[in-house]
Amino acid sequence: MGCQMNEYDSDLIARTLVSEGYVQLKEPQSADLLIVNTCTVRAKPEQKAYSMLGRMSAIKKKRPEIKMAVIGCLAQEKGAGLIKRFPLLDLVMGPRQIDRFKGSLRLLERGGNPIVATDSKGRPPIPPTDASSYFKGRTSGQISIMEGCNNFCSYCIVPYVRGREISRSPDSILEEAVGLVSQDVRDITLLGQNVNSYSWNEGESYGFPRLLKLLSGVKGLLRLRFTTSHPKDLSDELIKCFGELENLCPHIHLPFQAGSNKVLSEMRRRYTREDYLLLIEKLRKVNPFIAITSDVMVGFPGEDDNDFQDTLDLVRSVRFDGLFSFKYSDRKGTLAEKMGKKVSEAEKSSRLEVLQSLQKQITLEKNSQLKDKVVAVLVEGKSKRGDQMSGRTSSNKIVNFNSNNNNINRLVKVKIKSAFVNSLRGELV
Ligand code: SAH
Ligand code: SF4
Ligand code: F3S
Repeated sequence: MGCQMNEYDSDLIARTLVSEGYVQLKEPQSADLLIVNTCTVRAKPEQKAYSMLGRMSAIKKKRPEIKMAVIGCLAQEKGAGLIKRFPLLDLVMGPRQIDRFKGSLRLLERGGNPIVATDSKGRPPIPPTDASSYFKGRTSGQISIMEGCNNFCSYCIVPYVRGREISRSPDSILEEAVGLVSQDVRDITLLGQNVNSYSWNEGESYGFPRLLKLLSGVKGLLRLRFTTSHPKDLSDELIKCFGELENLCPHIHLPFQAGSNKVLSEMRRRYTREDYLLLIEKLRKVNPFIAITSDVMVGFPGEDDNDFQDTLDLVRSVRFDGLFSFKYSDRKGTLAEKMGKKVSEAEKSSRLEVLQSLQKQITLEKNSQLKDKVVAVLVEGKSKRGDQMSGRTSSNKIVNFNSNNNNINRLVKVKIKSAFVNSLRGELV
């Protein structure tokens, strides 16, 4: 569950298990070990995690000899409290402790008391060097370059569960990138809660732009991406990279969260809508075709209709290629939780609907502009429906087309014939 950081961590755990002789099963009913990696960024993923833990407990009730673990951000937030609620749990482990997973697994295999590992000052996970064919068959991969967040936006629980910012060494990141490419991964996304504050000062000094330059030189790496960027830290030097590094994809995910300066200030985002619009202008100056996606929420405490209109207005003027929109959700211990003037659920839902239908129309219009254009598609495999091949453009749009499947992991040219909200359809050129 949760964001790409969790996907990365899940792979890390899975690689450890594979190297220990475990085999992944499709159905949980017959497994010896059940693990759920959880998210707590909003109430919904929290509920989803509880219901998964309920299902896992039901399996363990029937087969008490198996082990059951919860990892990730909810594990970090609730700690031992989760064992009170789900007494069959054997392990509760936060994201900053997963480099201890192997040791904990040994203890679990021997039996004994449940383990709780939630110290948030741990080091960022060091990827194991074994299980070196784990990523074979994947076109795209991801690498965590930094963990944690120091920003404390007033609504957000991430800094409390992922801890303070800590960056990995450029050497270890480079080694991981080379390892992925040697397994035929062609498209790598660098991950961090706030990649712009990547910083390494032991021996040589590296900021994020320098790290990007280092990685863009990896032989055989066709596409390089990163997420997420905080608008307050998006430097001119980084913007320039979009015009300089050939394999850096023309796509940026730049969450704006709200269009009203009053709300932005209450959110403690530390930029104004004018600052944000200026960044968009600068990005489009470097590359007029850069795809821009974003996150936004509706119904932050005190958001009135004028504020919401400001959000719609920003969406109309930027014309994002895609937008992830959420209803504000109270998170325990955050500043926003204690704010007055909460917006009703009904109002949040109706604002979300208006916003999403506006964005749907924009996405469709933007995708339609690609009709009759020839685009480079990195082929990933069969389409969702299974009747075509599927891949992505460098701007991260899904393209389905007819072809025999001998072009997986390769770049092909496709002429776009029709456009939808979530994908494009075309013909091989
Ligand atoms: N580090 C990233 C965000 C990670 S959380 C950044 O700063 O952009 C992913 C998204 O979840 C956020 O961009 C925000 O839109 C949403 N989000 C975070 N906390 C939330 C909350 N309490 N309620 C609703 N949405 C929230
Ligand atoms: Fe949360 Fe803000 Fe940090 Fe993003 S930058 S993870 S929204 S506190
Ligand atoms: Fe969720 Fe943790 Fe990611 S709270 S969004 S899994 S950083």
